[in-house]
Amino acid sequence: MKKILVIHGPNLDLLGKREPAIYGKVTLKEINSALTKLARKRKAALKIFQSNHEGEIVDLIGKSKGKIQGLLINPAAYTHTSVAIRDAIAACGIIAIEVHLSNIYSREEFRQKSLISPVAKGVIMGFGMKSYLLGLEALLDLIDAK
Ligand code: DQA
Repeated sequence: MKKILVIHGPNLDLLGKREPAIYGKVTLKEINSALTKLARKRKAALKIFQSNHEGEIVDLIGKSKGKIQGLLINPAAYTHTSVAIRDAIAACGIIAIEVHLSNIYSREEFRQKSLISPVAKGVIMGFGMKSYLLGLEALLDLIDAK
């Protein structure tokens, strides 16, 4: 069975209450259950992790080498700052898809650069919860085509 690691970065635990005009009313729990449902349909197993701590995310990616076939990640604010997460993804060599609820290019200038995109196979943004579902579909298709 295909194993996928899903990582949600900082403040995504607050979804539903956090800036709903930007991120919508959907909660992380709802996103995770939609992802789990899709994974079941596609015969994949998900390990889902949320953290507000950069080092925890780096540790988990490092430990996942050889144990998972794909990574679906919303690095949240670390998208724009974390060389460490970018390097961890490059070091583990696992196919990664970056997702965002919002379109980072339509927002503040400081959000308009992702340090993660150069090491991602693809990036999906701007579709709210659907970004995650499209990202998981694309990731599983890539793994199946390998
Ligand atoms: C985000 C966009 C980031 O700029 C922001 O810091 C987030 C969420 C998104 O999903 O739209 O926390 O990654």
